[in-house]
Amino acid sequence: MKSVEIKPDIFWVGAIDWGIRDFHGYITQNGTTYNNYLIRDAQVTLIDTVKHDFCSVTLENIKRIVDLSKIVNLVINHIEPDHASSIDMIMKLIPNATIYISERGKKGIERYFDTSKWTFRVVKNGDTLNIGKYTLLFLETPMLHWPDSMVTYVKEAKLLISQDAFGQHIATASRFDDEFVECHSQFELDDAIADYYANILMPFGQLIKTKIADIVKAGLEIDMIAPDHGIIWRKDPGRIIQKYLDLANNKADLRVAVIYDTMWHSTEHMIIPVMQGIKDEGVDCRVIKLRASPMSVAIKEFWKARGTLIGTPTINNVMFPSVAEFLYHLGGLRPKGRMIGAFGSFGWGGGAVKEAYESFRKMGLEIVEPGVQVQYRPTLDDEQKCYEFGKAFAAKVKEYHKNF
Ligand code: FEO
Repeated sequence: MKSVEIKPDIFWVGAIDWGIRDFHGYITQNGTTYNNYLIRDAQVTLIDTVKHDFCSVTLENIKRIVDLSKIVNLVINHIEPDHASSIDMIMKLIPNATIYISERGKKGIERYFDTSKWTFRVVKNGDTLNIGKYTLLFLETPMLHWPDSMVTYVKEAKLLISQDAFGQHIATASRFDDEFVECHSQFELDDAIADYYANILMPFGQLIKTKIADIVKAGLEIDMIAPDHGIIWRKDPGRIIQKYLDLANNKADLRVAVIYDTMWHSTEHMIIPVMQGIKDEGVDCRVIKLRASPMSVAIKEFWKARGTLIGTPTINNVMFPSVAEFLYHLGGLRPKGRMIGAFGSFGWGGGAVKEAYESFRKMGLEIVEPGVQVQYRPTLDDEQKCYEFGKAFAAKVKEYHKNF
């Protein structure tokens, strides 16, 4: 797709990755884009690069607008390789350009490339750069989501180039939010936001709230937000900011996610009565089988629901491997504001449900216990216990949900 003018003389010059399905282990079922932006001003400025495989794509897009030799500034908002791994190829073509980057960004980039011949200007929070009719304001956003991270605000255009923040992993012909909703749906867009937030930004809710408060305090007028992945927010950028505040405040749907795996279908058999109990309490329920679903989908569904029930068989006195893997990964994302419980089956010794609860305690989640366990295969009595467990859990989730 050729470059797109998003503001007068400011162009999207990025690349669409239709085929990526494994983004460092995060399954991107809808592909992604690597967005970068070119400002055609007295000092032609490129903001961010793209993943190395797509360097030739962005170069072609840039060449449609200006001769590469005209670029004098390269702003690097974030050094993760999906945005920065073509810097060396680009700097070979514009060796006299000055790189504007945070201090930690510079230190990081020196570990990836031989930078000895490059000219850097390290920028700090609040530094500005006038490039002609436009002025760039650099705002550091450390740990959102790497130490080097920053965003660039183009003052006269009221444009926030926000790197990963407010992004989504979607490969689409639409470049803007309103186009996407027209061709797809608001639900698809909101689902992509939740997916991205849950899998990447979940640990950083407090930092997100602080940084948004800083931006509001600074009185920046924003009428467009251009992230480094997915669509650009032009119709209602306030909506995505509010959405991020909601996510950072642990907003969730009144729903229970049942995330499970099974060996010989006993744990799976428990789901129907558990689910019926949840539904009879008037609470929506979504079921995810771990070996049949990408980890990132399970993480997203966990995050979207106020409550989660984990179903696990016992194997060798511990949790089923896929369940253990899920909970281990979830712990690293430091979830908050969610209620959790467990159920499962065992043959003789048991141990999986106990181990699941130990994992919940380490995460500091709101726990409902004891869980329910059955030996070998659920009897009719066991099914009734499962039903009551699901119903009681959903009732507690409804109460807990009122706190948010
Ligand atoms: Fe899209 Fe943190 O890289």
